[in-house]
Amino acid sequence: MGVETEPVEAQCVSLEGRVYLDYNATTPLAPEVAQAVWDAMCQAWGNPSSSHPAGRKAKELIGSARESLARMLGGRPEDIVFTSGGTEANNMVIHTACRHFHESQRGTKNSQGTPHVVTSTVEHDSIRLPLEQLGKEGLAETTFVPVSPRSGRAEVDDVLAAIRPNTCLVSLMLANNETGVIMPVAELSQRICALNQRRAAEGLPRILVHTDAAQMIGKGRVDVQELGVDYLTVVGHKFHGPRIGALYTRSPGTATPLHPILFGGGQERSFRPGTENTPMIAGLGQAAELVSKNWEAYEAHMRDVRDYLEATLEASFGKQRIHFNSHFKGSRRLCNTCNFSILGPGLQGRRVLAHCKVLLASVGAACHSEKGDRPSPVLLSCGIPPEVAQNALRLSVGRGTTRADVDRAVQDLVQAVEQLERDRAP
Ligand SMILES: Cc1ncc(COP(=O)(O)O)c(C=O)c1O
Repeated sequence: MGVETEPVEAQCVSLEGRVYLDYNATTPLAPEVAQAVWDAMCQAWGNPSSSHPAGRKAKELIGSARESLARMLGGRPEDIVFTSGGTEANNMVIHTACRHFHESQRGTKNSQGTPHVVTSTVEHDSIRLPLEQLGKEGLAETTFVPVSPRSGRAEVDDVLAAIRPNTCLVSLMLANNETGVIMPVAELSQRICALNQRRAAEGLPRILVHTDAAQMIGKGRVDVQELGVDYLTVVGHKFHGPRIGALYTRSPGTATPLHPILFGGGQERSFRPGTENTPMIAGLGQAAELVSKNWEAYEAHMRDVRDYLEATLEASFGKQRIHFNSHFKGSRRLCNTCNFSILGPGLQGRRVLAHCKVLLASVGAACHSEKGDRPSPVLLSCGIPPEVAQNALRLSVGRGTTRADVDRAVQDLVQAVEQLERDRAP
């Protein structure tokens, strides 16, 4: 391995000697973000809708955070709507697409009936579950396109093949939270744009395109113009920001429909009413500024440390005992994610982690952490055999992770595995 890159950022974090390698689950606030939140709490506590100076100050901060998000994504400030988080943003897109479908069908001769959505089998629960719920209620149909076991990606041709006359939305995540595999969103948007022109001529409903960029922001290039999407989900706590989010919509309410889930006081142009959470929005703006300025340095550092982690795992356990679950030829993957299994009986990921004294990591998506020893459905969809998938560990490094952290984490894993094997010995 080459020379170590410097950790890019200090963090407000106390780990009492533990090594945190679970940055895909969440990230600690960057110190600049914590400062921005605190400053806004102290100085911009006014109601942003008030016309006096206290209100105007809060409104200005929100405006500048909106500009920071737009800059980070390559969009315009008016395309950003702040939300409580990624779950809300994803639900809003699904709700909008179904409503828009019904509105576009009203009064047409050849109504297409129920709205249909195309997504992949490896999306976050905040996409999968609302779609399943709509399916149970008979309000929408969904095709969950399986990822290819060769690439770990939902392939563009497979997604296009799932489109029907009544399709109103295609939603494909930009990078998967468990494997880190990056999906072909830009190519998909291009093809759907061409398809939409043909559909318009045939009187078929427009297909809206959404990507959930929760895992990609701060780890790689995210530009809405290059991606060509109508909607993009932003999740603050994945890039050292506060636990709120935003939805990018290309010209909301004009070029692209956006329908609120909540109704109230008219904030966020009534797309998402409710008195704005000024401090968190200010923090999200600061987190976006850091990403805009530094994402290439973050990416280079995390890639270096992640590659060092993978080399250290192989050196410590032996190549034949480590199976990397997200090495797919020809697919790009996130710079920070290492999903692997230590092969052998009794080495289920959850058991190994329970025997670790230093390492803090996970076996997959944090929101599935209560689901026992069942192998991750995401890994199974990627064609990983169940006996390998059940041993999976997901280690995700961050901006501040060092090679020394990696050394300690891997040593801890070695000791945990030795302990488990001793316990199994007759
Ligand atoms: C890919 C992805 N989408 C959406 C979410 C949900 O975001 P939030 O926690 O802000 O609701 C997450 C977070 O776990 C995620 O990883």
